[in-house]
Amino acid sequence: MDHFAIKNGVMHAEDVPLPRIAEEVGTPVYVYSRATLERHARVFREALDDVPDKLIAFAVKANPNLSVLKVLQRQGYGADVVSVGEMRRALAAGMAPENIVFSGVGKTRAELIAALEAGIGQFNIESEEEGVELAEVAREMGKEARCTLRINPDVDAGTHDKISTGKADNKFGVPISEAGQIFGKLAGEQGVNLRGVAVHIGSQLADLAPLENAFTKLGELVAALRGAGHTITHVDLGGGLGVPYKQGEELPSPAEYGKMVARLTQDWGVKLIFEPGRVIAGNAGVLLTRVVRVKRGIKDPFVIVDAAMNDLARPALYGAYHDFTAVEPSGADMTANIVGPICETGDTFAMGRLCDKLVAGDLAVFRTAGAYGATMASSYNSRGFVAEVLVDGDKFAVVADRIDASSIMDAERVPEWLD
Ligand code: LLP
Repeated sequence: MDHFAIKNGVMHAEDVPLPRIAEEVGTPVYVYSRATLERHARVFREALDDVPDKLIAFAVKANPNLSVLKVLQRQGYGADVVSVGEMRRALAAGMAPENIVFSGVGKTRAELIAALEAGIGQFNIESEEEGVELAEVAREMGKEARCTLRINPDVDAGTHDKISTGKADNKFGVPISEAGQIFGKLAGEQGVNLRGVAVHIGSQLADLAPLENAFTKLGELVAALRGAGHTITHVDLGGGLGVPYKQGEELPSPAEYGKMVARLTQDWGVKLIFEPGRVIAGNAGVLLTRVVRVKRGIKDPFVIVDAAMNDLARPALYGAYHDFTAVEPSGADMTANIVGPICETGDTFAMGRLCDKLVAGDLAVFRTAGAYGATMASSYNSRGFVAEVLVDGDKFAVVADRIDASSIMDAERVPEWLD
């Protein structure tokens, strides 16, 4: 459920008609709904009511906008970060350092130092090498890093290859077959307090079975580690729950996920950490765009919109489907190719798509763009960075300015020897 709906013939975000935002802020622009973010945060939290001790850490990579993070901080969420840049955003949004977990295979020494200085709650160590380095850095700083070891459970998440993370040949975590031995080695290192394990097998999961499989393996590992004399108090179950991108698409609900988790983990006796991203933010945002022109095609016409693959990369990168609907639908429809203005064929949002009839100047939205949307934008074709707006009831605010192409050019220099 989200708060983007047609009222009196015009699509609104909550109580704000989208044409008003287009007029005042211009297009393309991402529009987020606070009520939807809050609803999703609440639904996910309530789904885990049967898990007594937990931290829900929003995966900042899904939507790092400061105001979005602030909304979630006020819902009691912490943050899962994968860079110091994300950590600084979480802190700036008021998230407590102890509610921040740091994942990622390539944390640099400088990042380890910065995160230790900030006193974050947990490092998810992704390799023996990283654990040894973190221990050394922590010792030098006279600190102790609270950690889990990320396990690669060798489970096929059944999602797009580029966003699958839990297969043996993916770069993430340590092989489950070596986990006991690596855990033993790192647990003996001074400077780290290795107190648990972590797993994250992929994103946009449409089926709970791979998650259940991974969590079951993790439960067995926890028992084995305890059997070997280790104290395990924390288990991080990652994120990954999928969201519907097509109207009517059925995906496992947070409630079903929560039930499965509660059933599997009831005897673990640990604090559980969750890292949801898409399920919180995905359907809380749309990309609002204007039709530049409609061009005749050999078969179907091309609806050329002013948003492009630099603003919303998912279709070009993963062949992802985003619903595309008119802001003021006339009731008529058309079959069209939806494309952006960028000079490569990859800048195609959809081919042969049945959609609302559109003409030049009309507004339309790509839906489910609140996660992995603006954050994956680039300035390709010198198009600048897209603006972001947050709606709250009948008011809205620009929460990220459009960065135009000339400001980006201002950061460049031509050395005098080239002049
Ligand atoms: N935790 C870790 C360690 C992750 O790597 C990720 C996502 C998450 C949590 C959050 O996963 P979620 O709940 O959002 O599925 N750009 C891609 C998605 C990449 C996801 C990367 N990791 C896309 O647009 O589909």
